[in-house]
Amino acid sequence: MAIPLKKSMALSLLFLISFVLVGVLSVSAELQRFQHHAKGDGSLSFLVLGDWGRRGDFNQSQVAFQMGKMGEKVDIDFIVSTGDNFYDNGLVNEHDIAFEESFTKIYTAKSLQKQWYSVLGNHDYRGDAEAQLSPLLRKIDSRWLCLRSFVVNAEIAEIFFVDTTPFVEMYFSEPEGHTYDWRGINSRKAYIANLLKDVELAVRESSAKWKIVVGHHAIKSVGHHGDTQELIDQLLPILQANDVDFYMNGHDHCLEHISDKESQVQFLTSGAGSKAWRGDIKGLNKEGLNFFYDGQGFMSVNLTPTDAEIAFYDVFGKVLHRLNKSKLLHSSI
Ligand SMILES: *[C@@H]1O[C@H](CO)[C@@H](O)[C@H](O)[C@H]1NC(C)=O
Ligand SMILES: *[C@@H]1O[C@H](CO)[C@@H](O)[C@H](O)[C@H]1NC(C)=O
Repeated sequence: MAIPLKKSMALSLLFLISFVLVGVLSVSAELQRFQHHAKGDGSLSFLVLGDWGRRGDFNQSQVAFQMGKMGEKVDIDFIVSTGDNFYDNGLVNEHDIAFEESFTKIYTAKSLQKQWYSVLGNHDYRGDAEAQLSPLLRKIDSRWLCLRSFVVNAEIAEIFFVDTTPFVEMYFSEPEGHTYDWRGINSRKAYIANLLKDVELAVRESSAKWKIVVGHHAIKSVGHHGDTQELIDQLLPILQANDVDFYMNGHDHCLEHISDKESQVQFLTSGAGSKAWRGDIKGLNKEGLNFFYDGQGFMSVNLTPTDAEIAFYDVFGKVLHRLNKSKLLHSSI
């Protein structure tokens, strides 16, 4: 027997149900978004660093010092971390003192007291991956923001952060003695399919002047790990089809710039935040290779509505390589 509901009660129930449904649908269909205002003149500057957290060792502190100087000089708006934030095995939990020892106490310069936007690397997945996503870390150091995949809308630029570790087959099939924290990625196939769908939608619908995608793993690299075939197959076509300007990554402990031969995408590796000098290079005759440096350093990005200026620096703050791209001319690269 049906229990008669008062009309108003039925209506509020209907509202509640539709709210819950909309909530669930938007979570699975859209990446979390953050707004970051550009400067008053419309320009935007940031630094990009990867593969860094080693309690200051392996020149991490020297790189941090130079980042501080450059951050002040170019008046940066924020910092992007391309992952492998804490070595060797991510954080043990959200109370892990490595967070402060490798982050808070290292990047102390005034100019670096800005928002950090970080993704997870494969080493982060070897610890408690969820710890790095925890709001508790933001209480310890308010600069920190790490999520698996998200979008930063910075007016003239939109930056799409993509969780690349789950793409790499080897971590599942031949973990080589490492354990990975795959909580939240129980159905890997569905996770990747959903993520690609979300990224494709976000970059396609973006009307930003500059579209930048950030992930931990390189799409193309001549360093130790080389290309990531899974990303060439699955992520690169989305970048090529949607006018993405730059793909920025870490993983290989080097600095490099490779141009795509089939599109305007520029591949920029900034994975030199601490241990480097692996001396393990997969041939410098790769098509599109413009620059490769095997030592420590970082990258800076300056954007205006018409021009992008990107530079790579070593531990002494010396500029090793620059690239400019203009939107008025077709391309100055
Ligand atoms: C630190 O940087 C200098 C200059 O590039 C380099 O000679 C030295 O080997 C680096 N140290 C380590 C531990 O990588
Ligand atoms: C890039 O632009 C800057 C400033 O406009 C200029 O100083 C620099 O020489 C340019 N570099 C290249 C490689 O074109």
